[in-house]
Amino acid sequence: MDAMTAHTTTGRGRLYASLLDTIGNTPAIRINRIAPKGVELYVKAEFFNPAGSVKDRLALSIIEEAERNGSLRPGQTVVEATSGNTGIGLAMVCAAKGYPLVVTMADSFSVERRKLMRMMGAKVVLTPRAEKGLGMYRKAVELAEANGWFLARQFETDANARIHETTTAQEILADFRGHRLDYWVTGYGTGGTVTGVARVLRRERPETKIVLSEPANAQLLGSGHVQARNADHSPAESHPAFEPHPIQGWTPDFIPYVLQEAVDDRLYDELVPIAGPDGMAWARQLARSEGILTGVSGGSTFAVAMKIAERADAGTVILCMLPDTGERYMSTPLFEAIPEEMTEEEVGLSRSTPGYRLV
Ligand SMILES: Cc1ncc(COP(=O)(O)O)c(C=O)c1O
Repeated sequence: MDAMTAHTTTGRGRLYASLLDTIGNTPAIRINRIAPKGVELYVKAEFFNPAGSVKDRLALSIIEEAERNGSLRPGQTVVEATSGNTGIGLAMVCAAKGYPLVVTMADSFSVERRKLMRMMGAKVVLTPRAEKGLGMYRKAVELAEANGWFLARQFETDANARIHETTTAQEILADFRGHRLDYWVTGYGTGGTVTGVARVLRRERPETKIVLSEPANAQLLGSGHVQARNADHSPAESHPAFEPHPIQGWTPDFIPYVLQEAVDDRLYDELVPIAGPDGMAWARQLARSEGILTGVSGGSTFAVAMKIAERADAGTVILCMLPDTGERYMSTPLFEAIPEEMTEEEVGLSRSTPGYRLV
């Protein structure tokens, strides 16, 4: 269906009992203007989720699994360490289901994230950026232990990869049924997306190459250094290959347990590092040339997909994950060059006709 015929809409053919029922089923969208000729490049746009990111899936999975197994009691406070999107997803799910939520987050992450969580009723406890991901993680553990709260444990819980196995991966299978799919490209934060989707692709679409990316200046997997862990699978040390990087939501300062399965079971075929500034440049290009507004991690994943597209044979089909929306990054370097005031060119346009001029 092209854009014109799409003007006749039919509704979704159902009524929704809850906002939470709208999570998932995100579209795979073709890149029309900037994909190399002959290559079919698609993005899976996770910003179609109700709270704007791939983490809505995980948030619902963690809470509903804990409700089922009894580890979360009605009205009990939920606590989690998150670089933002998990917190925003949890804030939505907790608001919709009536659980109080406390999030711990390093003060280096964008202020939009804090405000969105607080808007949905969560409390946000900031931790010093110098103590990195491990600092905010340990703060969440401390608070959970001191208060008897439910710790969501996104980096270790089975509920993480499983939701991608049962939703994200199934959507990819359904949307590409009868169609080539040569490459699937993703980054990692907790590793839930790559581990869950790859479990299914390896089984159902073994011809699809799985490409994983990490920041060029924080190549935890690329370094080969094995992560030390505690008995509960949580990290026992900050990984020596970590350096602060601008790709929010990607690569904490440890290799999460959820990601470890992808390493141990060789669930990816290629590991491609990408520099944060390149990812930002591609996020801007996607916005300008395709009208697709994604964040820094989406731009970075897309940068890797474009590298593959540029070397690929005609007919190659690539699917690239876009984890969240660009609107979450207005206060960050992604929008740094975007002016608030009129540019010279805009002032020129304003002055080119006589009426309604501000300057
Ligand atoms: C912006 C962003 N990109 C990518 C990811 C990575 O997803 P996952 O945790 O499933 O590896 C996350 C989640 O941490 C994120 O917030």
